[in-house]
Amino acid sequence: MKLKQALNIDDLRTMAKRKLPRMVFDYIDGGADDEVTLRESVRRFDDYQLTWRALRDVTKIDTSTSIMGQQTKLPFFISPTASTRLFHPAEGELAMARAAEAREVIYSCSTLASQTVEDIADATSGPKWVQIYVWKDKEIVRNFLARAKEAGFTGCILTVDLPVGGNRERDPRNRFSVPPKPNFSLARQVATKPGWAWDLMRSPKIKPANFSHMRKQGDQGGVVGFVNQQFSRAVTWSDVEWMREFWGPGFAIKGISRAEDAKRAIDIGADAVWVSNHGGRQLDTSVPTIDLLPEIVDAVRGRADIIADGGVRRGSHVAKLLMRGATGVALGRASLYGLGAGGQPGVERALKIIEDEFLRTMALLGATRISELDPELMRGPASR
Ligand SMILES: Cc1cc2nc3c(=O)[nH]c(=O)nc-3n(C[C@H](O)[C@H](O)[C@H](O)COP(=O)(O)O)c2cc1C
Repeated sequence: MKLKQALNIDDLRTMAKRKLPRMVFDYIDGGADDEVTLRESVRRFDDYQLTWRALRDVTKIDTSTSIMGQQTKLPFFISPTASTRLFHPAEGELAMARAAEAREVIYSCSTLASQTVEDIADATSGPKWVQIYVWKDKEIVRNFLARAKEAGFTGCILTVDLPVGGNRERDPRNRFSVPPKPNFSLARQVATKPGWAWDLMRSPKIKPANFSHMRKQGDQGGVVGFVNQQFSRAVTWSDVEWMREFWGPGFAIKGISRAEDAKRAIDIGADAVWVSNHGGRQLDTSVPTIDLLPEIVDAVRGRADIIADGGVRRGSHVAKLLMRGATGVALGRASLYGLGAGGQPGVERALKIIEDEFLRTMALLGATRISELDPELMRGPASR
């Protein structure tokens, strides 16, 4: 199948599955424990039913909006994802960021990216945000943020739903690791995926590129071991207060699921509350974000933007999250399936599919601007 024959995100998922070794595809595609949240996050959108305003002139539709101070043509953007070169060894994050620029959406880069913030900034002049975790050594986080700022990243996302890694059972079953270690399982899986294997062999080793220089500090397990040791289970709100002040405006807290935490995020100066369950990769059976939005909207009371993600595979899913009160919507797997299916053009295809679907949904709803996507157009959630 060619990229232009992919009619929807599920087609791109099928193409990515054909191209990537199983362990790599499963790392994108899988979730925690029984993958209930993963499945339910996609399915839940179907329980919200739409009505439309008839006989409206929808010749011109304006999809522009502002998310966390960033003016943007579209209300959705690329969510941060770790080790993106795994899915496209030659370019990874560079392909993502270039595709985002080409389709005029914001790109966000993970702390655990496999390309440096400087290289990403050199590759694209589009709007860029950077994601961080709270690490044991504050100085490392400060230095990383200072580098990102210097490179031209204008938003900072603090992820708070990962005190420990989720139990993603597909990974040990496939003997998956970052970087992929040569073993019988990998050899068998790549035998039928020569394109990916060839790219991997010709590209530099996949690692958390932004911290490569830390390897010299003598920690076990090289840079990956070093980064893993930086995660702490003891992190609390008092450990994150300094970050907003250090970064300045354009600060989001990602991984919020409760109204009281949304309020705390605002208390420490967050400009956006990001409702997310990490795409069902962390706490299984956690609530789909679309269900959480009204209580978060009540708690936030317009004092910050609200970003939502999780399970978005259609333009209508974006519209539904906006109708429930989100200011912006982030795409995780939708763009990763595109990357796995066909590198930068694949991500562009994914973004174009979501954009076309979103525009069509707006026209069918009789809405000509984002502010017209009001909750009255939607019923639900319907019981199953
Ligand atoms: C392969 C993969 C890696 C991810 N890595 C990160 C990460 O490094 N930092 C982060 O905040 N979120 C990470 N996420 C979560 C996404 O940013 C986003 O919250 C989630 O994927 C949204 O759900 P969706 O994939 O159903 O769209 C990752 C998700 C995937 C699928």
